[in-house]
Amino acid sequence: MAEWAKSAWRNKPRVQMPDYPDKDALAAVEAQLAKYPPLVFAGEVRNLKASLGQAARGEAFLLQGGDCAESFAEFSADLIRDTFKVMLQMAMVLTYGAKVPVVKVGRMAGQFAKPRSAPTEVVGGQELPSYRGDIINGFDFSAGDRIPDPERMLQAYTQAAATLNLVRAFSHGGYANVHQVHAWTLGFTQSDEAERYRDVANRISDTLDFMRAAGVSDENAHTLQTVDFYTSHEALLLEYEEALCRVDSTTGLPVAGSGHLIWIGDRTRNPDGAHVEFCRGVQNPIGLKCGPTMTSDDLKALMARLNPENEAGRLTLITRFGAGTVGDHLPRLIRTVQEEGANVLWTCDPMHGNTIKSSSGYKTRPFDSVLREVREFFEVHNSEGTIPGGVHFEMTGKDVTECTGGVRAVTDENLSDRYHTACDPRLNASQSLELAFLVAEELSARRGSHQKAAAV
Ligand code: PEP
Ligand code: CO
Repeated sequence: MAEWAKSAWRNKPRVQMPDYPDKDALAAVEAQLAKYPPLVFAGEVRNLKASLGQAARGEAFLLQGGDCAESFAEFSADLIRDTFKVMLQMAMVLTYGAKVPVVKVGRMAGQFAKPRSAPTEVVGGQELPSYRGDIINGFDFSAGDRIPDPERMLQAYTQAAATLNLVRAFSHGGYANVHQVHAWTLGFTQSDEAERYRDVANRISDTLDFMRAAGVSDENAHTLQTVDFYTSHEALLLEYEEALCRVDSTTGLPVAGSGHLIWIGDRTRNPDGAHVEFCRGVQNPIGLKCGPTMTSDDLKALMARLNPENEAGRLTLITRFGAGTVGDHLPRLIRTVQEEGANVLWTCDPMHGNTIKSSSGYKTRPFDSVLREVREFFEVHNSEGTIPGGVHFEMTGKDVTECTGGVRAVTDENLSDRYHTACDPRLNASQSLELAFLVAEELSARRGSHQKAAAV
């Protein structure tokens, strides 16, 4: 395959990227970012890749979640803490229920750029460029806000650095200590899911008490007191990605310094396009969104380009078909992977194939469809004998009303109560926990049937 250079994507067809009107300002920002420290380090990226390799073999499970789009306006320590906390709770439910280690990856600290279905938007007869995420232009519907402004990349970098700093502090500074399993529920609105979580937390506390009494608590103290929490985002804005690309001093190989895992969206996965070109050359784990239009030939070409060495943990296929259609698409992609003998991690994004416009006019996702797509994902993998290795959610720790349904049912009429997303509708804390319980049940049912098979 052709030599790779971090700027070679510039010679390839690009889609979903802004045309900056002020080229000098753009060049100045790129030069500035290129001097800044990377946000993540090569050793961490390698550790994540190893963990994703385990998930691909069924020895771990990937939980990837966070905002659809991070926002400059909604940036606060409380928001970061609450999303982090819900992810820890979900991971606890999964670890406890399914007895597998959970690899935690936030859509965080860099998830700012958005592909859009239309280049422009019309409101009240006025047509303006679409909002493309805070790293590119402004959300407000005014001509000035919608002009792509490269300075926004610097603010995104600063916000990503501050977010990562807090997440690292939470991960290693005591907040994520498993002995806090009860404290993570404080401030939660009462719900059946919160009750169910408390029950799991009680059992975990009992186990910890038992371990302490039996004198085994100190041996694994470090494992219990800290977590590894990784960051991820869609590598959409390639000027930003290139400027943060660094050479790993240990291996001499290029690494995207913008986040641990970067993914390629369903709209930018042309095997000959700019996004695939950039991603193929960096050492990070790469996610690839696979929607209903992904053909076997596309997937073959993409696997050959993105993982020519067939390395474990390098490629995560994030399938997002929509409830009711997983059986139409997933089996053929599984067959393609098997024919190629390719190493991939299969995960399910039950969000992006299930977006609808509600009767009240809001973009929403019915929670039932989300649950159904997850169930279908497990069913297909169970019948194909392949490994469902993870899930990918748009979620927040805030008590928003953006997806309809769930045990504390959000209705079409409720959507306007607390609809805060800058882009797609997210699961709230209670809906996220409900999903975690479903996934834990699916995983432990699989485990049960494997144990039975082994015993026969
Ligand atoms: C996303 O993950 O926010 C997204 C835009 O997804 P997709 O590329 O699958 O549509
Ligand atoms: Co989204």
